[in-house]
Amino acid sequence: MIDFRSDTVTKPTKEMRIAMMDVLVGDDVYEDDPTIKELENLAASMTGFEAALFVPSGTFGNQLAIMTHTNRGDEIIVGMHSHIKNYEVGAAAVLSGVSYHIIEEMLGMMPLTKIREGVRGNDVHYPDTSLICLENAHGSGKVLPLEYLSEVRNIANQNDLKVHIDGARLFNAATSLDVDVKEITKYADSVMFCLSKGLASPIGSMVVGNQKFIDKARRNRKLMGGGMRQVGILGACGLISLKEMTKRLKEDHKNAKYVAEQLSMIPEFDVDFEHLDINMVFVKSTIDFVDLKEYLIPKGIIIGGYKGENLRVALHNDVKKEDIDLLIKYIKEYLNK
Ligand SMILES: Cc1ncc(COP(=O)(O)O)c(C=O)c1O
Repeated sequence: MIDFRSDTVTKPTKEMRIAMMDVLVGDDVYEDDPTIKELENLAASMTGFEAALFVPSGTFGNQLAIMTHTNRGDEIIVGMHSHIKNYEVGAAAVLSGVSYHIIEEMLGMMPLTKIREGVRGNDVHYPDTSLICLENAHGSGKVLPLEYLSEVRNIANQNDLKVHIDGARLFNAATSLDVDVKEITKYADSVMFCLSKGLASPIGSMVVGNQKFIDKARRNRKLMGGGMRQVGILGACGLISLKEMTKRLKEDHKNAKYVAEQLSMIPEFDVDFEHLDINMVFVKSTIDFVDLKEYLIPKGIIIGGYKGENLRVALHNDVKKEDIDLLIKYIKEYLNK
């Protein structure tokens, strides 16, 4: 199947499968796994932080960062459409005992005035605001500009708050801005980024921060059941993700633009060019995407279509230009049937 649903569907590359066979491993709870140490050192140095921690998933990494930055009863500032607020099962309330101050994003950004207004003052009735969570790249397909990150950092500094970036697609954001990833991460106290999305690892994410934060996070990771043993098996893939796969994301972005151009020529489709910064294309239409999805499955193509919702086409390592041409061909065939 050619799978356009998400970049999470990427399969580990042949190089990753070979690397997994011979990799050196040890018990990582004893901090004995040399491959995980290498991966964590590389992740820290690439993002400009003192230390890093391998975690099982992006959700785990975000929640670990929230738990490590906050005290129970705190309030955290999050975007209304953010993954942390919307798609992590309300975990911050369950695991860390924090509540959310929710702000609607515009083009992926929570307006700065709303963030300022959202910071609680010193009043016996109020919870403490302790953390601002950003998402870069944002799930809407937007990349947050560096000037915006700098402004959010200023607000955080003025109010003694921490900044966490959900960077599930951090390297896509850096690729889109054409900057070193450190230009983004320097505005945060912690960043989570995924190895298992566009970077094609089968499992795993990284949390990066200063040494004190990562030491505390290591203990919290154990509390959350995320202490893993011979996990260098996955670390071998993570190293390839960081060394090799980060370099090819521009191809996915180019393919996304190609899909957008092709789909925009179809009168029934309204392509959202404003949210086209990374490897995702969003399309509105009056046609029933569920029906289209069913039509495409026997042709060997899978899309994520939901009635009344936007179509999202995700580009990644397992989708080539010829696959896109097939998708366009069959969509046109479907509309003319
Ligand atoms: C922006 C964002 N953050 C976090 C996650 C969570 O990652 P995981 O599925 O590995 O838990 C995702 C997953 O798609 C995501 O898109």
